[in-house]
Amino acid sequence: MASNLRVSVWRGGSAGAFQTFEVPRHPSQTVLDVVTHIQRALDPTLAYRFACRVGMCGSCAMTVNGVPRWTCRTHVDKVARDHTLEISPLRNLPVIRDLVTDMREFFDKWAKAKGEFRGTATKKDDFAKVEPRSAGRVLVDKGIECIGCGVCYAACDVVSWNPRYLGPAALNRAWTLVNDAREKENAQRLRAVAGDAGCHACHSHVSCTERCPKHISPTAAIAGLKREVAKAALQGDL
Ligand code: SF4
Ligand code: SF4
Ligand code: FES
Repeated sequence: MASNLRVSVWRGGSAGAFQTFEVPRHPSQTVLDVVTHIQRALDPTLAYRFACRVGMCGSCAMTVNGVPRWTCRTHVDKVARDHTLEISPLRNLPVIRDLVTDMREFFDKWAKAKGEFRGTATKKDDFAKVEPRSAGRVLVDKGIECIGCGVCYAACDVVSWNPRYLGPAALNRAWTLVNDAREKENAQRLRAVAGDAGCHACHSHVSCTERCPKHISPTAAIAGLKREVAKAALQGDL
């Protein structure tokens, strides 16, 4: 194992540039360890984001050698090329500084896709019973595990071409609610995802599905939304 890595790190805002650092290499080192070493030992002004370090929060997502990833779950040995790494902020989001992106538009799109649960039960009602093997629950089994990390959004070329496109994570969220037996506002939700910035804009490139660290398939969710939107349109419900 070489003793050092050459690491190019994005500095500044969207008009910034890469800065190169030499970082000692260790066994089992993650890309987040590398960024943390730079910030603690070489340049304390480096801005980046993380919280759990164990693949639960999604806040450490960055672009590593051109690919969006959770840096705390990415081992240097798997991604370094000739002892070099290039680390930059997630694509398709405004850069605040260095490796930190502004996630507001990502979550604004969840709101636009009606990603908020709107049940009708009150706290006086008994817990709703959702049969684990019911068709709707099975359809969203993986989709409900989304933690909103933005990796799929950064991987999607359609978001790059059309910044109004709601994107894979917001549409996946809408799909989980469309199949939620407790949810009552699905006509509005289908209307929200039926527009030209909604599910029909997806080109089924599958990059979101290939990159999702939780093995969720937003592509399948979006295909499901397309079917439900078509059905609602034929029934005159849109
Ligand atoms: S679908 Fe996967 S990649 Fe996309 S935000 Fe959710 S967890 Fe992250
Ligand atoms: S399948 Fe659709 S949402 Fe996913 S990356 Fe491709 S175009 Fe984007
Ligand atoms: S720091 Fe939480 S997923 Fe990486």
